[in-house]
Amino acid sequence: MEFWRRKKSEAVDAEQVEAAGEQASRRSTALATRPIPEDALILIPLRNAVLFPGVISPITIGRASSVAAAAEAARSGLKVGFLLQRDPKADDIAPGDLYRVGTAGQVVRYAGLPGGANHLMVQGERRFRVVEYLEGWPFLVASVAWIPEAKGSGTDIEARFLQLKEQAVEAVGLLPNAPDELADVVRAIEAPGQLADMVANLLDVKNEEKQEILETAELGARLDKVLEHLGKRVEVLRLSKEIGDKTKKEFDSRQREHVLREQMRQIQKELGDEEDTAAEIEELKKAIEAAGFPEETLKHVRKEFKRLARMGEQSAESSMLRTWLEWMTELPWKASAQKEINIQEARAILDEDHFGLEKIKRRILEYLAVRKLNPGGKSPILCFVGPPGVGKTSLGQSIARATDRKFQRVALGGTHDEAEIRGHRRTYIGAMPGNIIAAIKRAGSRAGVLMLDEIDKLGAGGFHGDPSSALLEVLDPEQNGKFRDNYLGVDFDLSRVMFIATANQLDTIPGPLRDRMEIIQLPGYTEEEKLQIARKYLVKRQLETNGLLLDQVSLSDDAVRAIIADYTREAGVRNLERAIGSVLRNAAMRIAEGAAEKISIESGDLHAILGAKKFENEAALRAATPGVATGLAWTPVGGDILFIEASKVPGKGKLILTGQLGDVMKESAQAALTLAKSRLNESLDKWDIHVHVPAGATPKDGPSAGVAMYLSLISLLSSKPIRADVAMTGEISLRGLVMPIGGLKEKSLAALRAGIRTVMIPRRNEKDLEDIPADAKAKLEFVLLDRVEDAVETAIGKLPERALAA
Ligand SMILES: Nc1ncnc2c1ncn2[C@@H]1O[C@H](COP(=O)(O)OP(=O)(O)OP(=O)(O)O)[C@@H](O)[C@H]1O
Ligand SMILES: [Mg+2]
Repeated sequence: MEFWRRKKSEAVDAEQVEAAGEQASRRSTALATRPIPEDALILIPLRNAVLFPGVISPITIGRASSVAAAAEAARSGLKVGFLLQRDPKADDIAPGDLYRVGTAGQVVRYAGLPGGANHLMVQGERRFRVVEYLEGWPFLVASVAWIPEAKGSGTDIEARFLQLKEQAVEAVGLLPNAPDELADVVRAIEAPGQLADMVANLLDVKNEEKQEILETAELGARLDKVLEHLGKRVEVLRLSKEIGDKTKKEFDSRQREHVLREQMRQIQKELGDEEDTAAEIEELKKAIEAAGFPEETLKHVRKEFKRLARMGEQSAESSMLRTWLEWMTELPWKASAQKEINIQEARAILDEDHFGLEKIKRRILEYLAVRKLNPGGKSPILCFVGPPGVGKTSLGQSIARATDRKFQRVALGGTHDEAEIRGHRRTYIGAMPGNIIAAIKRAGSRAGVLMLDEIDKLGAGGFHGDPSSALLEVLDPEQNGKFRDNYLGVDFDLSRVMFIATANQLDTIPGPLRDRMEIIQLPGYTEEEKLQIARKYLVKRQLETNGLLLDQVSLSDDAVRAIIADYTREAGVRNLERAIGSVLRNAAMRIAEGAAEKISIESGDLHAILGAKKFENEAALRAATPGVATGLAWTPVGGDILFIEASKVPGKGKLILTGQLGDVMKESAQAALTLAKSRLNESLDKWDIHVHVPAGATPKDGPSAGVAMYLSLISLLSSKPIRADVAMTGEISLRGLVMPIGGLKEKSLAALRAGIRTVMIPRRNEKDLEDIPADAKAKLEFVLLDRVEDAVETAIGKLPERALAA
């Protein structure tokens, strides 16, 4: 597929060669003695090409009049004008059949070939417009007016020129067969008009469109036209390259597997003897009878097996069929006897594996109780949502352990292709079942716990079908009793599988999928909870991993607290566990070296082992200057603090916004400024206000930054700093009311992690305070806001009179 190409070897003007050509050229030599006037050009009509200035192009001609024209041009050294004809099929050309604007060029090479075809190599030079056709030659001649080459400059032209150059270089890179030098040629062009012409020549668009570009003398308009066409081509090229790459990659890996499988079979055959194959067939037969297929499926499998038995060993289909039969017989079709769920035991196991999480464990036990009472019933699908490292995956494992079921995980992150979930048809080279069936086979049970990990990172449906619609079928209790994997080609019963999904964030889960699941949020841990988790689980596990005995190394609570506060800043405990691991490995080394027998690690030792503190009390450092407010944000990896910084520069009262801003946040900033202006009597007409929101915030989370933006502006304009230990969240209305926000729990934990003492929240979020862990609540003071003035009073204090309007 070449959407944009250089028609190099092809004859640009594919004229049918007429036998009359040669005769005509002889006749014309005799006639062409009459001189051509100064302001006139010999014309050659082109059926399906547009010649541009600056372009060298091969042209084939055949019509008698064209051959005569070319011969005369070659003889006299005169330039020739090339004009596109309106109807490419027309043979006899009258002046009205041609466009009036064309390009004059020099014929640099002329070769008459046997059979009458004539090849020209033409270099396009200047645009012209036909003024009047002249009579008296065996070819077309017209007096012409030159169209001067537009010389434009200025930033407008420059910008478009640069953009065109960039896109053209990209397009050349995307072309499968473009010569490398082409990009260099494009880069070297310095005249915008010339670049536009050159790109227009290369574009694979209709001739009428090229003609239109040729006729556009004005530089800006010409650049725009070319840019528009090129933009579209580049899109298409990008897409086609993406498809090509993806298909190729997929095909390669599948084919590789297929080839390896084949080789393995050959080797096995070499090693064994003929009887082995017979034995194998016999074994397969036994496996089929023992597999426990449903009746319909059994019939189908038996039929396929018979086909295999009749087939020659060597045939390609036989290996395909055999692989399929192996898959079929190895799948757990039978419902194995399931141990009854014991709620007491399950509770003990959940408690054993995880600290805290009381609400969540209770919900899990309820879920298990329902399953126990009604094993065949349709239970909801649980979906654990929360930041990394808070225990989503490990809770799933724990549920499997608590119910004595097999655990398997299917990673959905980056799944773009429906076939990854549902498999490829058996006839496809190297086809395999999808990852759901593959996981069931690994588990060896169709009543295990199947974790659908990272369901929020499921790729959008693309060229190969939508994975989320396939997943919907998997999770739908009405349909999943008859799940059809393309590879198996028969129904498989998934209704007994306990599906549990995990996600970092909710918004990116496709709506229909989200509706099908029960969402359980894990917001993250407080410092105290982390300490407990470390003491009860992480330290023990890391001691074991590093081959240490329990009494060889001890880690003081202070040391753990210091690791939590100074070396990790996360909602979960994954980095904490990693850091504990490094500390213990350091101790293990010292013990192994014989430096000590027992080591106890205090917080003072950490610097030597883990290096300098990674997190300082940033809030205190940043917030000392007026105009800086500490906001709270919700992100998929837990809550976070962010600094909103306002400053003013001489200007005209504009609001400049930079940094990580979504549309909502821009509106929020505008509202904050309007509000601040209406509260201050100082005129802002001579200043531009600049508000910066640093990276790290989720642009979508804009609304909750309204209060912080307002405070940063008030602080800036009144030159009074905001208290460093205060953080805030809340949206504002134009009348100064503070509106409620989401994610309070995550935000509070983030504030605590960052050393904040006072958190200002909308009064309408008061009810959410009950979800906040007790030890966080004990350490934070919550100030409830009705109006923005409440926030000013708490965080800035009384404003000087001057700054307050009535
Ligand atoms: N409450 C807890 N008690 C004990 N250990 C915990 C607790 N929470 C998390 N952990 C431990 O933290 C580690 C990380 O947890 P896990 O792998 O389940 O994270 P996750 O939530 O699945 O994260 P991700 O989103 O990155 O997949 C595990 O080793 C887990 O056992
Ligand atoms: Mg996980």
